[in-house]
Amino acid sequence: MNVLQLDTVRLSADRTHLEILDQTLLPNTVKVLSVSRIEDIWEAIRLLRVRGAPAIGVCAGYAIALTASRIETGDQEQFCREFVKQKEYLASARPTAVNLFWALNRMEGVVRASLARPVAEIKERLFAEAQAIRDEDVAISHSIGEIGFSLLRHGDGILTHCNAGTLATAKYGTATAPMYAALEHGWTDLRVYCDETRPLLQGARLTAFELHSAGIDTTLICDSMASITMKRGLINIVFVGCDRVTRNGDTANKIGTSAVAILARHYGIPFYVCAPSSTIDMSLETGDQIPIEERPPEEVTEMWYTERMAPEGIKVCNPAFDVTDHSLITGIITERGLCRPPFATAFEALGIGR
Ligand code: MRU
Repeated sequence: MNVLQLDTVRLSADRTHLEILDQTLLPNTVKVLSVSRIEDIWEAIRLLRVRGAPAIGVCAGYAIALTASRIETGDQEQFCREFVKQKEYLASARPTAVNLFWALNRMEGVVRASLARPVAEIKERLFAEAQAIRDEDVAISHSIGEIGFSLLRHGDGILTHCNAGTLATAKYGTATAPMYAALEHGWTDLRVYCDETRPLLQGARLTAFELHSAGIDTTLICDSMASITMKRGLINIVFVGCDRVTRNGDTANKIGTSAVAILARHYGIPFYVCAPSSTIDMSLETGDQIPIEERPPEEVTEMWYTERMAPEGIKVCNPAFDVTDHSLITGIITERGLCRPPFATAFEALGIGR
């Protein structure tokens, strides 16, 4: 199977529902869900059936266009009020990835800019904008891939964490994009190590699945094995994705990412964050301001096991993301260019946030 051919999320041809590849079932079952009600789309985001910051943004764009198409009024102001209600509901699905809010705000911008137009036309514009968000995402990942690829040398070992792959975007991924770019350039000698990424195993279930099926030399390691893998000299570079980057370059990504960055610094390995500019939140100064999602304890004690693997009643802490301090980051690769510290200056030079 060529994973690059799979759509993480798309709008049905008759524009009545979304088709979401259910990532909770991967790698064993490839199943596409048809979801139509806004509550079911909200739940698909919450339960990580569709996940990864850019894919959440693409899904949110389609979702709000779909749900807005069913608002029954010819009055623009009333349409706008109902739109905002639905938008706020979707925005409550997950707190950390800024792409969710970014995409919904962009969609709201279309409504507000079109208030003089008939409601039927606003609805069409929303569908067009959602499609543009999706198409731009493919181009953005491709561009990140080419920039990331330019940092690679033949034979490199690459470590990645979680899934910032094609499954987390519309295509190519962000952290995996340099690996797919290398394939497109005919390189077959890269070695990729992926952390399994406890507790939800996005590395094992998703990254290992997609890279292996693309024919990339992939080795799965437990998160706790990153240190010895680096010490053995097997890793030359780290690429990770992100859910939100603040003005100073602090980066929220899947829990465990900051530990990888600390290890990389210890072993002198360059650590790169692959970040579509939509993931850079210039309204926040530092990572301390990023809301960190706390997820249910069962994800740690029971999920994926055939029986519970922790004592009943044990206290569990399950933050889904952590923040990597900007001082540990060698560079942030955006589709507009590679940013080196000081990141705020680099972002501004690329027009990010304007
Ligand atoms: O909880 P998830 O699976 O949505 O977390 C995903 C990540 O942390 C990814 O690394 C991030 O969203 C970047 S995806 C290109």
